[in-house]
Amino acid sequence: MRAVVRDEYGPVDVLRVATVEPPVPGAGEVVVRVAAASLNMADLDHLLGRPRLSRIATGLVRPANRRVGVDVAGTVEEVGPGVTGLRPGDRVWADLFDLGHGSLADLVCAPASALSPLPEAVSFDDAATAPHSGSLALQGLRFAGPIRPGERVLINGAGGCVGPFAVQMAKARGAEVTAVDHGDKLDLLRELGADHVIDYTREDVTRGGRRFDVVLDIADTRSVLAFPRCLARGGRYVPIVRGIGSFAEKALLGPVVGRLTGTRMGAFFWRPNQRPDLDELSGLIASGSVRPRIDRRYRLDDAIEAFRRLESGEARGKVLVVP
Ligand SMILES: NC(=O)c1ccc[n+]([C@@H]2O[C@H](COP(=O)([O-])OP(=O)(O)OC[C@H]3O[C@@H](n4cnc5c(N)ncnc54)[C@H](OP(=O)(O)O)[C@@H]3O)[C@@H](O)[C@H]2O)c1
Repeated sequence: MRAVVRDEYGPVDVLRVATVEPPVPGAGEVVVRVAAASLNMADLDHLLGRPRLSRIATGLVRPANRRVGVDVAGTVEEVGPGVTGLRPGDRVWADLFDLGHGSLADLVCAPASALSPLPEAVSFDDAATAPHSGSLALQGLRFAGPIRPGERVLINGAGGCVGPFAVQMAKARGAEVTAVDHGDKLDLLRELGADHVIDYTREDVTRGGRRFDVVLDIADTRSVLAFPRCLARGGRYVPIVRGIGSFAEKALLGPVVGRLTGTRMGAFFWRPNQRPDLDELSGLIASGSVRPRIDRRYRLDDAIEAFRRLESGEARGKVLVVP
């Protein structure tokens, strides 16, 4: 079978499509025939071995794991000994972020417990866009607490992998959504339903005089000190942090700044591949409340081009890889 592999840390050039032995499921494992996979910023981090501290777990000099890809939707091909509740042909999906990666392949092996059932109402392509980025959006908004209809929600960095999910989820809850990103992405944000859009290269949203009840900060380019300027009294600030330094600042300084400014600020621990999250995501997609945005579909043999598209920052929605 084919699989996208890498033998060293580095940019997209380290990737190649190789012929490898098909996986044999061990006890409690399931082999999934991949129908579609999608790329996330986490896949680029995985390639580059960043942050460097993460290499303590993933291999100091070379990556211990050659396989690539976290988001997967497909059908059960074979079940290992002791697996109950899943049969060949069942539709499943998962985020393999902390489960060995490997979704960029014809087949991938995963623990049965990691696979959630995928309803018929959700296509494989749509499903493949969502487990990683959709869960981040869902958990970030959940950490903000219930969003009431009419609340003013700011999605900062709304035009990447996570943002389009967050914009639509906030709209589905009746919020008035302001979406911030690069000027080239504002049309996309309007299409997704944002009520107001702001180009971060032209305007600093924290200094524009607008106040928000909730800020979901996906860009995570600024100190927590910037956001009280644009939070309403009692407003909630939730960062999706990009690194350990930012996490430390937001988790330690955030609550102090929040107390001093009458707002709520802090960081949350993201938990990948939670079954209730995937069930909620499939419900949102099936009902049409969230319409996954697909930028382009690439064949597995062209997976390296797919990575270049993600890396370019020009994608408008998720980049799919379809064996
Ligand atoms: N906290 C956790 O536990 C956790 C877990 C997994 C992943 N993550 C992180 O979460 C991130 C997920 O976000 P994503 O995949 O949606 O990232 P993304 O695709 O890189 O999107 C970020 C967007 O923010 C925009 N942006 C850049 N600078 C900005 C600024 N100053 N103001 C407003 N927008 C700005 C970017 O636009 P440009 O194209 O102009 O740069 C881009 O469109 C990943 O980078 C990953 O590291 C966190």
